[in-house]
Parts: sequence; structure tokens; C-alpha cells
Amino acid sequence: MRDLTGEVVAVTGASAGIGEASARALVAEGANVVVGARRKDRLDAMADQLGAQVAVVEMDVTSPADAKRLVGAAMDRFGKLDALVANAGIGAYGGIMDLTDEQLAAMMETNIAGTVWPIRAAVPVFVDAGAGDIVIVASVAGLRGAGDEAVYAATKFAQVGLAGGLDRELREHGIRVSTLAPGGTATEFAMGAGRTPDMPGLADMMSADDVAAAVVAVLKQPRSMRTLVWSMRSMQEAD
Ligand SMILES: NC(=O)c1ccc[n+]([C@@H]2O[C@H](COP(=O)([O-])OP(=O)(O)OC[C@H]3O[C@@H](n4cnc5c(N)ncnc54)[C@H](OP(=O)(O)O)[C@@H]3O)[C@@H](O)[C@H]2O)c1
Repeated sequence: MRDLTGEVVAVTGASAGIGEASARALVAEGANVVVGARRKDRLDAMADQLGAQVAVVEMDVTSPADAKRLVGAAMDRFGKLDALVANAGIGAYGGIMDLTDEQLAAMMETNIAGTVWPIRAAVPVFVDAGAGDIVIVASVAGLRGAGDEAVYAATKFAQVGLAGGLDRELREHGIRVSTLAPGGTATEFAMGAGRTPDMPGLADMMSADDVAAAVVAVLKQPRSMRTLVWSMRSMQEAD
């Protein structure tokens, strides 16, 4: 396994849930992290707690300029960027006619454009270095459709498709592109946004720390191999 000590990893959506857990797990592995999200107070609280291994960037992933600032912060603070965890995402549960135009537009913009912009900001740095990792936190919904989550699932299919294309495009530069496809994970996301009681209960879900461990594991694989799609569920989740 690779040692992540001193590696520099940018994580989007690091103010909560899987992104925050990933940032914390990476710091525990000795990595430096650049954490991005809109809620700066939460990022600052993590940096205050974890210290000099954490750099904070208040950012919105739907902004190409903000994505460039995230990568710029890694270069300014730590002098390099080794990996990007494209994790920020939102969801809303409801049928195609139940959700508002605004909810659907926000999901498409955040989950698709908000994955593309940080990757576009990071790729030139990785190409210059001749190495880099992109880990996209997609979803099991991106591997099969999901009722009452059709547009969310479509955004997650888009991430899986993006990753497949980028693997073919970027492997020759030493860049690995990995997709994680978690099932239900007990985060604020899972608790809100219209989830109904008949859906898997929080106690039956994976934890954010479980998924964060997978983020770390992907990055720790020897550079002679790459993880393409890693799909994971709790033992209680059926399919
Ligand atoms: N929880 C699940 O069951 C589950 C299952 C499979 C996949 N996933 C995926 O896992 C990823 C993380 O979800 P989670 O469960 O950890 O959700 P979460 O706890 O709600 O966290 C979402 C994170 O995304 C950030 N974010 C949202 N919109 C953003 C924007 N426009 N710009 C920057 N950051 C933004 C949020 O930060 P701010 O609000 O501070 O900006 C927050 O840090 C998502 O892509 C989600 O689709 C989740």
C-alpha cells in the first residue's frame, strides 16, 4: 500500500458527511488536505481542530473560478496537489413531477457541473506532475436507476460516464480516475431532502467513516494499478 504521508488531497463537500469524514481520515493518514464547501464555519472548525494539515477554501463547486481557487490553494499552501476527491453533491427524493424546477436544476448543476469544474482545475497540475488521482463519489443510483430519484440517478450516471471517459483520456498521463458507488450512508443528505420512512433506516446504512475508509483505500493502492468502480452497501441494504 502507498503511504499518504505528505500527499496533498483536495476534497469538495468537506463541510459534512462523506467529504468531512474523508478529510479527517486523510489527515489521520498523514496527508495534507484542502477542504472546500460553502459553509466556511464548519471547515474552519475542522481546521482549528486538526491543525496545519488542513487548508480551508470557501467555495461553490458550480463555479469554475471557485474550483480553480481550490487547486490554487493547494499549490500556494502545500506546493503541490496529488489527488482530488470530487464528493460534493445534493439530492432530493420525489417523483419527476413532485420536485420543483429549482430542485432539479440545482441537482444537475451541483452534481454534474460541480464534478466537472474541480476536475478541470486539477488536471493540468496532474499532467504536469505525470501523476494524480481523481476519486468521484457517485452512488449506487448511478449504476442502476432509482425510483423517486430519477434525476438524481441521472446525475450520478453522468459522473460514472465522466469517470469512464476520463480514465481512457488521462491514464496515459499517470492519472487514475476512480468512482465510488455507495449505497445508503447515514449523513445529513440521507436524513433530509424528502426521504420517507419506508426507505432504509439510518441504523441500517453505512457510516460516512465507512465510505471515507474506501476513499483512503483507493488512494493507497500501488500506482501500478487503478480502481475503476467500487460499489458498496451496508449488510442490511438489499441491492
Ligand atoms: N448519503 C448517502 O446515502 C449517499 C449515498 C451515495 C452517494 N452519496 C453521495 O455522496 C456525496 C456526499 O454526500 P453526503 O451524504 O456526505 O451529503 P452531506 O452530508 O449532505 O454533505 C454534502 C456536502 O456537499 C457540499 N456541497 C453541496 N453543494 C455544494 C456546492 N454547491 N458547493 C460546494 N459544496 C457543496 C456540502 O457543503 P456546503 O453545504 O457547506 O456547501 C456538504 O459538505 C454526494 O455526492 C452524494 O450524492 C451519498
